[in-house]
Amino acid sequence: MESAEIRRRWLSFFEERGHTVVPSASLIADDPTLLLVPAGMVPFKPYFLGEAKPPAPRATSVQKCVRTPDIEEVGKTTRHGTFFQMCGNFSFGDYFKEGAIAYAWELLTNSVADGGYGLDPERLWITVYLDDDEAEQIWREKIGVPAERIQRLGKKDNFWSMGVPGPCGPCSEINYDRGLEFGVEGGPAVNDERYVEIWNLVFMQFERGAGDGKEDFPILGDLPSRNIDTGLGLERLAMILQGVRNLYEIDTSQVVIDKATELTGVRYGTGEGSDVALRVVTDHMRTSVMLIGDGVTPGNEGRGYVLRRIMRRAIRNMRLLGASGPVVAELVDVVINAMGQQYPELITDRKRIETVALAEEAAFVKTLKAGTNILDTAVTETKAAGGQVLAGEKAFLLHDTWGFPIDLTLEMAAEQGVSVDEAGFRRLMKEQRERAKADARAKKTGHADLSAYREVADRAGSTEFTGYTATEGESTVVGLLVDGVPSPAATEGDEVEIVLDRTPFYAEGGGQLADTGRIRLDSGAVVEVRDVQQPVPGVSVHKGSVQVGEVTLGAAAHVAIDLRRRRAIARAHSATHLTHQALRDALGPTAAQAGSENSPGRFRFDFGSPNAVPGTVLTDVEHKINDVLARELDVQAEVMSIDEAKKQGAIAEFGEKYGERVRVVTIGDFSKELCGGTHVHNTAQLGLVKLLGESSIGSGVRRIEALVGVDAYQFLAREHMVVAQLQELVKGRSEELPERISGMLAKLKDAEKEIEKFRAEKVLQAAAGLAAGAKDVRGVAVVTGQVPDGTGADDLRRLVLDVRGRIPGDRPAVVALFTTANGRPLTVIATNEAARERGLKAGELVRTAAKTLGGGGGGKPDVAQGGGQDPDAIGDAVAAVERLVGETA
Ligand code: SER
Repeated sequence: MESAEIRRRWLSFFEERGHTVVPSASLIADDPTLLLVPAGMVPFKPYFLGEAKPPAPRATSVQKCVRTPDIEEVGKTTRHGTFFQMCGNFSFGDYFKEGAIAYAWELLTNSVADGGYGLDPERLWITVYLDDDEAEQIWREKIGVPAERIQRLGKKDNFWSMGVPGPCGPCSEINYDRGLEFGVEGGPAVNDERYVEIWNLVFMQFERGAGDGKEDFPILGDLPSRNIDTGLGLERLAMILQGVRNLYEIDTSQVVIDKATELTGVRYGTGEGSDVALRVVTDHMRTSVMLIGDGVTPGNEGRGYVLRRIMRRAIRNMRLLGASGPVVAELVDVVINAMGQQYPELITDRKRIETVALAEEAAFVKTLKAGTNILDTAVTETKAAGGQVLAGEKAFLLHDTWGFPIDLTLEMAAEQGVSVDEAGFRRLMKEQRERAKADARAKKTGHADLSAYREVADRAGSTEFTGYTATEGESTVVGLLVDGVPSPAATEGDEVEIVLDRTPFYAEGGGQLADTGRIRLDSGAVVEVRDVQQPVPGVSVHKGSVQVGEVTLGAAAHVAIDLRRRRAIARAHSATHLTHQALRDALGPTAAQAGSENSPGRFRFDFGSPNAVPGTVLTDVEHKINDVLARELDVQAEVMSIDEAKKQGAIAEFGEKYGERVRVVTIGDFSKELCGGTHVHNTAQLGLVKLLGESSIGSGVRRIEALVGVDAYQFLAREHMVVAQLQELVKGRSEELPERISGMLAKLKDAEKEIEKFRAEKVLQAAAGLAAGAKDVRGVAVVTGQVPDGTGADDLRRLVLDVRGRIPGDRPAVVALFTTANGRPLTVIATNEAARERGLKAGELVRTAAKTLGGGGGGKPDVAQGGGQDPDAIGDAVAAVERLVGETA
């Protein structure tokens, strides 16, 4: 049975039994405690905890999941994968143990003709939690599983939580006996390779607190209701139903192995080492494509790092298998073809996914070269210092600067017989991560505990946004936090977070910055609003400070936004849409939006592009945008179904989550985009758009920054003034400026060269006179003297050497010349060989001279240089040098 069919059967089985089918959420978890979604229940967590009301009592989904703690096991065992799909059925206070067990048994053992998976009941083994007599009894008595195929296991295996505070409960697992060839008998308690777990039924009824991992944590109490959360590994079931030995050989993965074989020439099944490498490539490329598909881009932090590590492991394994050229394009292509049946967005997004993946491959190949050199040097240094352990700082530097995954550093260091201070590395990573997390939290919500906001949402519902049409209005304070703590009242000077039942304030989102403004209470109190965020979807939290009076929960208020700011932001937002469309027209659909920020009068727009956008293209894009403004196109927003929006060709920002009903913003016949932001009514309101330039912000992603309206005008006016000044100076028309100025620069350069030549000649002209004026000190020709100020150390040196060369080689010679530069004395002294034979060393002579000058210096016996503080001491320094020559020679 194909993977796509397993999925289809799952959803229809539970749909027929009253479950609402919920599409897979993005892999990017909407939960501050998680980076990526590791289980099917994640999107339902608030329902289990009773933080939100479930829209229906029963649900089912096939959720994309990524887990990386067992990444080292991938390819070595038959059943570990970093990406997998978890089929789940969920009950929120509806059916419990008996219902969950009966459904699971029915679906697994019903014949294929009857819509089931047709597994042989004799091969199914059950595990239950130590004290869960109730579950065992249901399995034995209601289902008829013989007691010898039911085993009890401890907390590690049969008590499920997310590893962090949250819902939890005992669980019961269904395992499939793959037969003798996979090892000894004895059931899942003895052999989990042979008796492979396929389905976990969690009886979610408790809430756990903080603690150590999976086993050591307190139970805080009962959940508001008794729930069911189950998870069946789609790939594991596919492995059984398709009769293959491991996860990597199922229909959607085997094609990747085949492609890797084609690219490396290494056949699968010819050696354990190469088989493991091929499986790693297969698993990791699937995971990479799914992560990029959901909007993760490779980076050095958080999810970006998970992706980078996985992709780089895949590429490195391809290299270990012998591939030397690029491999990613073709591997990505087969993964998309294989997974596209279940996730059609991968096919529509193919270009973007390829662009991101290829950029990472190119970056890694470069990194591999540079990082390898750094690693080799660090290893050599470590060994030279008698050490065996590479410092954690080095590993961190390799990771942070060169994107070397730690396991790559470990592997490559081990190849050279050195280990790595991993604990030190992890400590540095942790510090960095905590800094980043704290920053992000502080910006978005002020504090990470969202329960206070959820409580407001439960009590008062979502905030009604009136700001598409209104800029002020009446409303009521339905939630109030002072310094992050729910409070009944706040007074003057307090930092508050206020939730209103309805508001014209736009909360930051979709790249648009928040509105600012004022909340005036009927009591006379005034709150200045600085920022508005939605820490939980649908709840707008107004952050600000109480200027005067007292704010109380339940008070009536008149609220008004800062209209100037809103208008300037709206102009920027509409301009962003125009830029997006114009860029797509110029570069094709790969120029998809990767992020944006719309602030008053300016915006930045990030988009996918493997290369820099040429200046001429940027000029054309800007031209086109400004043409559209003059066409006075109307801007309209309409709410419609997502299908209708797609049919009309609206562009969606990728990685964003959209509900069933979406808002589509249309700008005349020019642009149509899914968008929740606030816009102008007509393009003429924008006045002017000026693109400031384009730059890289990471592999494959570029950024355009631009100004709109008055800000664009002010920028151009400033530039114009500069041009006018230049025209005045150069006495030319503006279009002649570039040529004139470059002509002047060229002339200037020539003139500088000429001056330099003259100066050098002039200095050297002095050489003959200086040489002729040599004094004889005990048979040594001594040339001393002061040359004009500003000669510079290089010229002085050249002159000294020239003079030395003019004295016949058999005559001992010492040349000591002085000058001043920037008010400080400088000396260069040279000796010839005959002088050195008489014991005269330039270095020593300079030290003597420099000491007299109040400074220091030194050098080799033949030429040395020094300087000091006191230019008036040059005469004394000359005398000191001559004295020393006399004493030494
Ligand atoms: N949450 C459980 C698991 O991840 C069952 O869905 O195994």
